[in-house]
Amino acid sequence: MRASVNERYGSPDSLAVRDIPTPQPADDEIQVKVYATTVGRTDTCALRAHPFFVRPVTGLLRPKRKVLGLDFAGTVESVGLSVTRFTPGDRVFGLTPGGYGAHAELVCLPEDGPIARMPEGRRFDEVVLCEGAWYANMYLKKFGLQPGHSILIYGASGAIGTAAVQLAKFYGAAVTAVVATPYLDLAADLGADDVIDYTATDFTQSGALYDFVLDAVGKTSYFACRPLLKPTGVFAATDLGPWWQNIVLALWSSITRSGRVVFPTPRANRALVEFLRDLIEANELRAVVDRTYSLEDIADAYRYVETQRKTGIVVIDVAPGPSKSYAIQPS
Ligand SMILES: NC(=O)c1ccc[n+]([C@@H]2O[C@H](COP(=O)([O-])OP(=O)(O)OC[C@H]3O[C@@H](n4cnc5c(N)ncnc54)[C@H](OP(=O)(O)O)[C@@H]3O)[C@@H](O)[C@H]2O)c1
Repeated sequence: MRASVNERYGSPDSLAVRDIPTPQPADDEIQVKVYATTVGRTDTCALRAHPFFVRPVTGLLRPKRKVLGLDFAGTVESVGLSVTRFTPGDRVFGLTPGGYGAHAELVCLPEDGPIARMPEGRRFDEVVLCEGAWYANMYLKKFGLQPGHSILIYGASGAIGTAAVQLAKFYGAAVTAVVATPYLDLAADLGADDVIDYTATDFTQSGALYDFVLDAVGKTSYFACRPLLKPTGVFAATDLGPWWQNIVLALWSSITRSGRVVFPTPRANRALVEFLRDLIEANELRAVVDRTYSLEDIADAYRYVETQRKTGIVVIDVAPGPSKSYAIQPS
């Protein structure tokens, strides 16, 4: 099968799309024919082994796992002997364990992993939004977001940000989105009640107060956003921040029991993907697709994602044609 392979850590130049042996499912695994996947920030970090401390897990000098790819959508090709949840032909989507394997024509996944049947009436390339939605949901759950709450989402045009706006609206909160000028309409369209252009005004000086502030793109800080927080307000960021300050602040908040800064640990499971499936089906959540690349051009997708300027997600069309189809093997 064709796959994007990284034999060493480094830039997108270290990726090669070539033939590798087809993985065979273990007894508890399903083999999925991938129609669509994405290149996201998880992939770009894994390609470069960033941050450095991931290397004891991912391989000290060279990557142990050589095919990246977290989000996937496709059809079940074959199943292991003990598999009961899925049968060949099922249309499925979700996240690969550890973020490995989806940048290939076939991937094997444990049947009890973060996988669900596709939402009705959606194409494969429309549902590979799980990475951003997973992170966004993790923060909103950690906040305990509910009707009556107010939240400011900074960087609402990225993968996490576009999902966070939609999910925060689903949870019933009043949402203020902070984006650059080109994304003002997009943020409003996704449901934001108020939209601030960070290139035209200093959003930290608006005078408004929020229950929660989420830095969805890792480009502001707790100290900058502190004037926006109510006395009981909580801040979270999707990145470590300068000198890993967001981890330090979260630890300090935990020790002092102020709860002012939180830094949750991501864990994906089947319930999460089934929840996302239901939201997609109910038109509460949709992918914002910036660009689409073929598998052969995946290095260019990495280069684009590394600019940190993408809008929503960048899709890899692994099986051009079918990934855009609604009609492959209804499950
Ligand atoms: N370590 C990991 O494995 C991992 C995994 C997932 C996510 N993350 C972190 O999560 C964060 C978000 O990821 P993502 O995939 O959602 O990001 P993303 O999609 O790459 O975010 C890009 C978007 O952010 C906007 N943006 C860039 N600079 C901005 C700024 N200064 N202020 C406001 N908006 C800005 C860009 O538009 P404009 O530039 O035009 O404003 C663009 O629309 C990142 O910090 C990433 O490192 C880390």
